[in-house]
Amino acid sequence: MDRGASASYIGTMFTFEIDADTGKTTLYDDLVAAARALTEGEPDAIANMANLSALIWQYLPDLNWAGFYRLIDGELVLGPFQGKAACIRIPLGKGVCGAAAAQRTTQRVADVHAFPGHIACDADSRSEIVLPVIVGDRLIGVLDLDSPMPDRFDADDQAGLERLVAAVAVRLA
Ligand code: SME
Repeated sequence: MDRGASASYIGTMFTFEIDADTGKTTLYDDLVAAARALTEGEPDAIANMANLSALIWQYLPDLNWAGFYRLIDGELVLGPFQGKAACIRIPLGKGVCGAAAAQRTTQRVADVHAFPGHIACDADSRSEIVLPVIVGDRLIGVLDLDSPMPDRFDADDQAGLERLVAAVAVRLA
């Protein structure tokens, strides 16, 4: 359930009412509300991806990378992110990101070393979740989160992140 707008813009700063120590469902309720408020009325997809990467990076624990790849001329191109510098172009079907884009389904990988073709951008990564960003029937790109913890992302994370992407996808196109 949406707990209401939990991002407010005061002067030049966003403030969030998010309790990072709460249960996962409430955390994602708050994140979805904040993501909506953060992107509301802003038509620039890059700006919105940049702020959403920062929001996720700040409030989801145990991440070492969080950001977007955009579908441009048939391949994934690095977009706004937080974390270490990463590979720039990923062909559809390659790695976890390419699989999510080609299949248009979330890829939740408990052990990246066991994923055939995983592309290692940061040697610390142990688990990963990649969600396609789709508006209508158009694939915009993917949201990619990496963790140094094995099996960091469970079904609740997947459901929460899918809600988040669905809530803001139109503002990323
Ligand atoms: N591991 C990804 C590549 C992107 S980085 O993790 C940022 C993959 O296999 O597609």
